[in-house]
Amino acid sequence: MTTGFEEATPSLLRPRGVPETIAWRGGADGRLTILDQTLLPHAVRHVVCDTAEQVWEAIRSLRVRGAPLIGVAAAYGLCLGVRPRRDAARGALLADVRRVAEYLSSARPTAVNLLWALRRVQARAEQEPGAGCEVWRAMLAEAHAILHEDALACRRIGEHGAGLVPEGGGVLTHCNAGALATAGYGTALALLYVAHERGRRFRVFADETRPLLQGARLTAFELSAAGIDTTVLCDGAAAALLASGRVQMVVVGADRIAANGDTANKIGTYAVALAARAHGVPFYVAAPRSTFDPQAPTGAEIPIEQRDAREVREVAGGVVAAPGAGCFNPAFDVTPAGLVDGIVTEAGVLKPVTAANIAKFLAEQDLQRSA
Ligand code: MRU
Repeated sequence: MTTGFEEATPSLLRPRGVPETIAWRGGADGRLTILDQTLLPHAVRHVVCDTAEQVWEAIRSLRVRGAPLIGVAAAYGLCLGVRPRRDAARGALLADVRRVAEYLSSARPTAVNLLWALRRVQARAEQEPGAGCEVWRAMLAEAHAILHEDALACRRIGEHGAGLVPEGGGVLTHCNAGALATAGYGTALALLYVAHERGRRFRVFADETRPLLQGARLTAFELSAAGIDTTVLCDGAAAALLASGRVQMVVVGADRIAANGDTANKIGTYAVALAARAHGVPFYVAAPRSTFDPQAPTGAEIPIEQRDAREVREVAGGVVAAPGAGCFNPAFDVTPAGLVDGIVTEAGVLKPVTAANIAKFLAEQDLQRSA
């Protein structure tokens, strides 16, 4: 059974100072270790998952979060979910794989990386001609490959996009699309890590990202740990900051990119994109192949997660909304492709953002994988 470096991200592919987000430890009888991001920045604690149900709960509750990382977690969750029956006949095991994949896909609806990773592991299971235990071994190898490829893709995104980071300027980001959201350097924040490594000086502005504060809790935590100058602002201050001339670039991650480039990302991203366009500041999205959904022709076909009203009604456990008020709590919004100046991928910067450029990128990536 595979052991060693494939099970966790090699340290060269993670920024220094940022805790490991996910790792499979222990070979065939191993366990999945996940950083509990609900506790950050106050505590760095890992939870251990032995079942698909535990992985489902970790995804739903945002202990593990960020589109690429959700995909990696789900891939391992599928392996855990069918492991108790890995000695069953091949047909019975494959039926189980379908059932557990369906279950895990219900954890969160918007990040397509979840479905993408589950389909990959399922396809690998179906292609493996051997007995149940060999099918299961192939599934685990595929989950390791997904983790490793995500870390490599993040590094490449950083290298392709680092040149866009303005020397001596300001960069605004929303939510957390960093090392904490992936198995590697992150997507949007990978540009900043690589630019920082190359000696570029710049300041990052991180929207706090209500209601769950991924910007204040996570982006500020990981950028500060890596020694990058970071300032947190309320989401409502972003337009004024862009108007002030202190920001020369906006970069965000994505949860799903439709075939035409419409981009779903954390709620509030659309408002930032509108304000950036109004003030002539370039707005970039950074995302790997696993975040593109060619089955969704436009953003209108992307399912948007609606979360519990308590996330809006309460702050740090205390009720802040007036009694009787309703709550609107979509976790994501869609930024139209026309507001996106470029998409930084592991293969380079897609610019202009058109359906044709996206289709070409997807065809090349899928060809490379099948080669
Ligand atoms: O609800 P979350 O914290 O999972 O939302 C995360 C985001 O919106 C990120 O920007 C996106 O997943 C890209 S992460 C590289």
